[in-house]
Amino acid sequence: MFTEKEGIVHCEDVSLELLAKRYGTPLFVYSLNSIKNMVTAYQEAFRKFSPIVAYAIKANPNLSILREAGLLGAGADIVSGGELHRAIDAGIPTNKIVFAGVGKSHAEIEAALAAEILIFNVESIPELKLLDSIAGEMNLTAHFAIRVNPDVDPRTHAYISTGKKESKFGLDIKTAIEAYRLSLKMKNVEALGIHCHIGSQITKTNPFVQAIEKVVRVIREVRELGASINYLDIGGGLGIDYDGTVPPTPSELANVISPFIEESGCKLIIEPGRSIVGNSGVLLTRVHYIKETPIHRYVIVDAAMNDLIRPAFYDAFHSIEHIDTRQARTETVCEIVGPICETGDFLAKGRKMPLPASGDILMIRSAGAYGMAMSSNYNQRTRAAEILVDKNKFKLVRRRETYADLSRTEKEIEDE
Ligand code: LLP
Repeated sequence: MFTEKEGIVHCEDVSLELLAKRYGTPLFVYSLNSIKNMVTAYQEAFRKFSPIVAYAIKANPNLSILREAGLLGAGADIVSGGELHRAIDAGIPTNKIVFAGVGKSHAEIEAALAAEILIFNVESIPELKLLDSIAGEMNLTAHFAIRVNPDVDPRTHAYISTGKKESKFGLDIKTAIEAYRLSLKMKNVEALGIHCHIGSQITKTNPFVQAIEKVVRVIREVRELGASINYLDIGGGLGIDYDGTVPPTPSELANVISPFIEESGCKLIIEPGRSIVGNSGVLLTRVHYIKETPIHRYVIVDAAMNDLIRPAFYDAFHSIEHIDTRQARTETVCEIVGPICETGDFLAKGRKMPLPASGDILMIRSAGAYGMAMSSNYNQRTRAAEILVDKNKFKLVRRRETYADLSRTEKEIEDE
């Protein structure tokens, strides 16, 4: 979806040069049709299980993206009251919303119950008890799934590995079964499913198979207790190509895990985030200066760790390319860094690439997921604008922040 036409990279049919000129940089640009294709790819791959593709809002919560996903029939995986609010705002039907997270607050549980979401993915016994008591106060029945921690290594970065026994997520198999048993004595909760999510940026099918195999065994035991399990929620986690490592497609994943889903007799919920939006977006940045030091050649750009924290936080690799490829440039090795006052503020280290010049526009690939979503105002930098492209049309879907935005929540109370 980001391809070169006559020497200029385009998003679908729109020139990135034109967008950078019109809206300035740093600028996130998303391809609507790439997003749609990925949602549809999941729906098609798992069609026989009447899947709910519960898009993981945390990956990119832009309202326009949520609306488009909702129009295609997607649901939402949420982890906070804020995400619930956004999902509802975007018109995602609440009966397709699933709510995970180890620290759901009283107010968040209440709001999600009032909204009649499909399932609470419960991560501890105290949470199950609180859910029962709040549902009781509201005279409602809360439908839940227990998030099982299957103790499987997803072979990904330690910070985004969530299904090993030492992680804070979910309940080990024994405790999970105990939770279902306890729920049978509770008045206001009812089991409806089972959940697991073992991590993110997973590039092989094997960890998924290992996890689902274990979860299906748990389903059998739980049903014997008398709890009903109609939904199997296998979480998200399918990786994307950042550096040439090509992960499985949704249909390749479906091929290997379908026999287990079939055996469970459940309807399927899947919670993809990164694989829907990651490679559907880029971050455009302009080169300020080239600075030569005795050790390094620094390319100082106008995007920084506050716009895209992944390189600083996970040492993540993002491909960085010129959007204008017409000019001949000499290959060099450079450090691509932002203006923030931290040595950790880099977008690429020791990167071999054609030497940029001041004023060049660079495109940081694979920035559609966990880019804008994890951005901040650190160093009092205003957050970037976002553009959604649909064939030859484009729309500003979030305006660039202003200096007034930066102090609004302080000024508001001073003015009261
Ligand atoms: N479901 C649950 C319960 C999750 O915790 C997550 C992601 C997802 C689904 C979606 O996973 P995905 O399909 O996007 O892999 N900030 C990190 C990624 C954190 C993922 C957190 N949970 C990064 O930039 O790599």
